[in-house]
Amino acid sequence: MSDAGNGLSVSYQTPSGLTVKRLQPEIGAEITGVDLCEPISGDVGSDIRQALVDHGVVFFRRQPLGYAQHLALARVFGEPHVEGFLPDRPEIMPLVSDAANTNPAGGHWHSDGTYYDVAPAVSILLCHQAAELGGDTCFASAAAVYAGLPDELKRQIAPLRARASMSHIRTVKGLDDDSATYIGRTGDDVDRGWAEHPVVRIHPETGKPVLYVNEVHTQEIVGMEPEESAALLQSLTDRFLRAEYQMRWSWRDHDITIWDNRQVQHYAVANEAGPRHVERIMVQGTPSVGLNETLAMETAE
Ligand SMILES: [Fe+2]
Repeated sequence: MSDAGNGLSVSYQTPSGLTVKRLQPEIGAEITGVDLCEPISGDVGSDIRQALVDHGVVFFRRQPLGYAQHLALARVFGEPHVEGFLPDRPEIMPLVSDAANTNPAGGHWHSDGTYYDVAPAVSILLCHQAAELGGDTCFASAAAVYAGLPDELKRQIAPLRARASMSHIRTVKGLDDDSATYIGRTGDDVDRGWAEHPVVRIHPETGKPVLYVNEVHTQEIVGMEPEESAALLQSLTDRFLRAEYQMRWSWRDHDITIWDNRQVQHYAVANEAGPRHVERIMVQGTPSVGLNETLAMETAE
């Protein structure tokens, strides 16, 4: 098992005995050797958290969790976010789709909930029914995207902040103002979320800078003329399209995927050729801290 960059082997054992197999050099790992239907010990939880920090997104096959187990897995990472769609399961966001009505949250790169002041740190998706064909999810490392930027561009964006909103997605996706079609939310709900974040965010656990703008939530760079802002955002979000930064997951029934919204973006491929049913729980995060704020703190010390 040779070292393949970042100090970790392609496949390795964690202290609690999980097997972690990396999927691409920049992103992703599959974890085996654990039954998530059973209570998760502190040691196993700690190893899963570490694998998520190290690889940005982790996958488990054959984990037919119920609601209580899905919730227990979320609590390994922190306090679950309440969605409020289902009265009996308030933390669950259900996404049911098929060939005629593809995933409404699909077809664009984003990280979840950046229109909140404090965006969710982690999302945990449980696949109850995978599409017979299609409906994959792609993931891209926002840390790798940032690392690949030219130095001059890194210097330019270091002090910048950007506004993100839920309503911006309607513009990008061509929905009208009264549309309630985006993940079932009504107009008022859609307008509820609005937040400002640094363009370059420091990951609170790795300490690495990540590019923290996305093509559907990030509306404008603060203090920049609209045309200049739009051009810069386009040039930044386009960099997530490089295949070297990405991986792609083909779902099977009872897969679990956990991704770190603070360092990866995802893209649900809206081409499911048949019924698909997945359910998501998000875990609350911490306020975003920008690269320039970190540098200022270091200078002051
Ligand atoms: Fe998403």
